[in-house]
Amino acid sequence: MRSSRVEDGRAARARALDAVIDALERNAEKTLEAQKQLELDEKRIKVFATSDLHTDMPKNMQVMEEYVERETAARRARSETNEASVIVVAGDVGTNLECVELTLRLLSKAHDMVCYLPAGNHELWCATTERWCRDNGREYPCDSIGKMLRLIDLCTDIGVCCSPLSVAGVRIVPIYGWYDDLFAPRGEIPAKYSDLERRFDCACSWPSFINPPSEARNSHSPAIGAFMRAVNDRVLDRFQDAALDQNSPIKHVITYSHFIPRSELYRGTYDLVHVMGSCRIDADAKKWKSTVHVFGHSHLNVDRCVDGVRYIQCALGYPHERWFGVNHPKLVFDASLE
Ligand SMILES: [Fe+2]
Ligand SMILES: [Fe+2]
Repeated sequence: MRSSRVEDGRAARARALDAVIDALERNAEKTLEAQKQLELDEKRIKVFATSDLHTDMPKNMQVMEEYVERETAARRARSETNEASVIVVAGDVGTNLECVELTLRLLSKAHDMVCYLPAGNHELWCATTERWCRDNGREYPCDSIGKMLRLIDLCTDIGVCCSPLSVAGVRIVPIYGWYDDLFAPRGEIPAKYSDLERRFDCACSWPSFINPPSEARNSHSPAIGAFMRAVNDRVLDRFQDAALDQNSPIKHVITYSHFIPRSELYRGTYDLVHVMGSCRIDADAKKWKSTVHVFGHSHLNVDRCVDGVRYIQCALGYPHERWFGVNHPKLVFDASLE
């Protein structure tokens, strides 16, 4: 009986993984069409980075609307000088699907391409009142992995990239991931989590191949990160040789994750250290030989080189965190300066 349950769990995990990879394949095909239509490979690319837009909050949506209005004018000016722009959004756009869609559509007015990690922790919260289980005639499991799948399909429907993109000699790659206990300094395993950590992301709901149903809302399970790493492994196998156009060889690689890839990049409170990041994200990014890595989550900005990689967080964050004003998306690559 127990072994058949284990078998069922393995089969369900394999199906979920296949569904995510199929969805990313569709996303990559649609992105390539858009890239060709916009003739992006013929242009000088600028890449901007942001994260944690949290546009479920009206003040943040207002900041985004104002930014997009200004940046849309800048995009027009760029197009006159054969420049194009890509914005990398490293997760936590929001929880509400309508808000996420509206934000991504807004950003698509201001930039030629939007690259988005559709698996920040806030994206994967599952309010039971949300009607995301059936959408556009497709059915999705009502759990956090089902919501990630729904978000990937939403991106494909509205022309947002969440798969590896190679454009004008620049490769931009999402690294999926989740936090783990080993992220703490010296990799110490907590005897018990702080009160904040224990409740962290209890709004997620994990399928039974990750947690038993009684533990569905436990976001500390190592099986979450293991599933995300399996996504990364399959994406690497499928995409690392794709689009290696000899006319436009890859000169720069930018990776992006939601969670923090190295513990020395976290400068926040120790009470949250076990829900901040995973060094395995850095290991997965390095398989792509990235020289720039964009991330989010802590809302504490970083721009620092470690071992030859430039790590950047430029989060909008919550309204009460803007002590020094608004962090607008940061320019992290500019082909005009090459
Ligand atoms: Fe956030
Ligand atoms: Fe986050």
